[in-house]
Amino acid sequence: MGYTMKNARQGWADRYEKTSMAWPSENVIRIFKGAYPRLDLRKNGHTGKKIIDVGCGDVGNLLFLETLGMDLYGVEIDQKIVDLVKGILAARGVNADIRLGSNECLPYEDGLFDYLLSWNAVYYMGGQRDFNKHVNEYARVLKAGGHLVLSVPKITHGIFNKAKIIDDEFAMIQVDRLGIRVGEVFRRFKNTEDIEKTFLPYFTDFSFGSIEDDYFGVAGHWHLVVCTRK
Ligand SMILES: C[S@@+](CC[C@H](N)C(=O)[O-])C[C@H]1O[C@@H](n2cnc3c(N)ncnc32)[C@H](O)[C@@H]1O
Repeated sequence: MGYTMKNARQGWADRYEKTSMAWPSENVIRIFKGAYPRLDLRKNGHTGKKIIDVGCGDVGNLLFLETLGMDLYGVEIDQKIVDLVKGILAARGVNADIRLGSNECLPYEDGLFDYLLSWNAVYYMGGQRDFNKHVNEYARVLKAGGHLVLSVPKITHGIFNKAKIIDDEFAMIQVDRLGIRVGEVFRRFKNTEDIEKTFLPYFTDFSFGSIEDDYFGVAGHWHLVVCTRK
C-alpha cells in the first residue's frame, strides 16, 4: 500500500493507541530550563506564557511545559490522536486546548502564541511540497518577539538511510523502524545555514544546538533550533 496522508494518520493513531505516552525530551527540558552561552529562555519567565505544541502526539512535552506554568495548546493530525491526547491530559487534571491541525493549518488566531514548539514535526510534508506553507503558518500564529523551538533531523540521521532524495529540499523515507513513515516526504535541511535561510523571512536571532546520539545502532542526529519572530 502506497503512502497517503490517511495511512499516516492511521499509523500514528495506532501507535499512540498502543504505546503508553510518554516522557518529555531531555532537550526540550534543556531548552526551556537551561542557561547556556547561546540560549537562556528562563529570562522571559514561563508562567502564563502561551505555547502551542505542533504534532504534540507524545504528550510528554506538554506535561513538562505544564510544570512551568505555561498555557498549553496543541495540534495533532488525526481526531483519534486529538482525543487520546485530551484524555491523557484530562486524566492528569491538565488544562489544554488541543485541536485537529497540521504544519500548514493551525486553527488558532493570528499572533496568539509566545512560543511555538514543533518537536520532530515541522519537516513532515503531509502530502504537499511547499515548506513555506509551514514557515508562514508558524509565523502567523506567533506574536512578534515570540519564540520558535524546533528539532530537525540532520542529513546523517538514521531516518534518511536509503531515503530517496527528490531534490535539494525533499527526501522520501524508504526505511522506518516505526513502520509509519515509508513514503512520507520530509523537508531535508543540508545544514544550519539552510534552516536559517528558510525561516529568515519571518524569524531572527537564531540559536542552534546539535545532538549526535547513537542509540545502539540508530543515528539520532538533530539540529536544535530556537529563533525569534520578527
Ligand atoms: C516523531 S513524532 C513527534 C511527536 C512529539 N512531538 C514528540 O516529540 O514526542 C511526529 C509527530 O508529528 C505528527 N505529524 C505528522 N505529520 C504532520 C503534519 N503534516 N503536521 C503536523 N504534525 C504532523 C505525527 O502525528 C506525530 O505525532
